[in-house]
Amino acid sequence: MIREIVQVGDEVLRKKCEPVTRFDGELAALLDDMKETLKKAEGAGLAAPQVGVPIRAVLVDVPEGFFEFINPVFVWQKGEQVGPEGCLSVRGKSGIVCRPNKVKIIYQDRHGDKYAVVARGWFARAVCHELDHLDGILYTDKAENIRDEED
Ligand code: CO
Repeated sequence: MIREIVQVGDEVLRKKCEPVTRFDGELAALLDDMKETLKKAEGAGLAAPQVGVPIRAVLVDVPEGFFEFINPVFVWQKGEQVGPEGCLSVRGKSGIVCRPNKVKIIYQDRHGDKYAVVARGWFARAVCHELDHLDGILYTDKAENIRDEED
């Protein structure tokens, strides 16, 4: 089911999200809905608070693959990259954001099993952007030169 993507100004986007403790059918249904919503919106990532659910779960859809990160935590961050970013919750805008160039995170999947992944480049940028959402941070808090996108 496609869910409505919450837009900037809604307080749910500013919450510190709660850890996921139950890896149940409700979580699976939420993740499935988020995937459908993300694919339709053609975004690179979507965090649970963006569909109004303030829990620590995000999706990242990048050339390296499609990922569900539950309770993700940075292990380390290295380097620096500066580039454009947008957000499905801040429609029609983009801005230049400085992010780490390489990150390692640990996370759980929808069953609660634990994994780690190293992300570089655009993948690292998407991970950083989505993890910020879990702490109530939007890219516009960090961006320079926020401007209207021509579409
Ligand atoms: Co976003």
